Amino acid sequence: MDKYRLANLRSWNARVPVHAASRFYDLKGFLRGRNALLPIERREVGRVKGKRLLHLQCHFGMDTLSWARLGARVTGADFSDKAIARARDLAAGTGLKADFVLSDVMRLPRALPAKGKFDIVFASYGVLCWIADMRRWMRVASHFLRPGGFLYLAESHPFTNILAMDGRTQELPYFNEGPAYFPPEYTYTDGPRKAMPPTYEWCHPMSDILGAVKAAGLRLDFLHEFPYCAWERFKGMKKGRDGFYRLPASRKSLPLLFSLKAFKK
Ligand SMILES: C[S@@+](CC[C@H](N)C(=O)[O-])C[C@H]1O[C@@H](n2cnc3c(N)ncnc32)[C@H](O)[C@@H]1O
Repeated sequence: MDKYRLANLRSWNARVPVHAASRFYDLKGFLRGRNALLPIERREVGRVKGKRLLHLQCHFGMDTLSWARLGARVTGADFSDKAIARARDLAAGTGLKADFVLSDVMRLPRALPAKGKFDIVFASYGVLCWIADMRRWMRVASHFLRPGGFLYLAESHPFTNILAMDGRTQELPYFNEGPAYFPPEYTYTDGPRKAMPPTYEWCHPMSDILGAVKAAGLRLDFLHEFPYCAWERFKGMKKGRDGFYRLPASRKSLPLLFSLKAFKK
């Protein structure tokens, strides 16, 4: 593993217990039956009953198991041993059936011998910034899909990813200029004010993401952009009744999330 992924792995392992105890992830609610998926992906992925679904970079498995609650036959994969151990415990504790695979996403085709076996490959919110090679990531997603199956991705928007928390200052490049170093910082959830190990992250402009979809032999069905976010992306955003955060009316709109669906030919 290269120094970037090793650093990121340390950071993700340190975040797992903090996230699992946070109000942000609301694990207690999940254990009482709450579905952790957002209305965006539930609506856009559609019915999953009986479908084989692979969740890339599944963290500690709450979303994966939420798809299982909706009837999907699920497999989750992540490179964090702490996350996968927690995901397996969660599956055992809830009695939901799921396979969890410990693997770097780029090596997953070797760790999980299931080429062309999935109806749906799913990934969401905070996955692409850990990826150096966008085309290779898309090829991994495509590798696991059966012809006619689809990739569904919901993610923070690359255009606004470049901005700092004030929503005005540019913090990152729009184009991929190699790994950006993030010094030790608190994680994005509530919880103990303890700095997490540093990370390296990559920026991917929309043209790289869509170019990778095409290069991986996938046919784009839709690309949606949203002027709201599932978390307080910029200071001063207000949470609406629907649970999404919006900029104050005095600000002009910005794209905060996007989603895409692409079919395997
Ligand atoms: C922000 S989380 C995904 C979020 C998910 N939507 C959630 O909130 O549960 C990012 C995940 O990517 C995983 N990850 C980062 N780099 C990875 C890599 N190279 N291979 C596999 N997993 C990776 C991390 O361990 C983490 O679980």
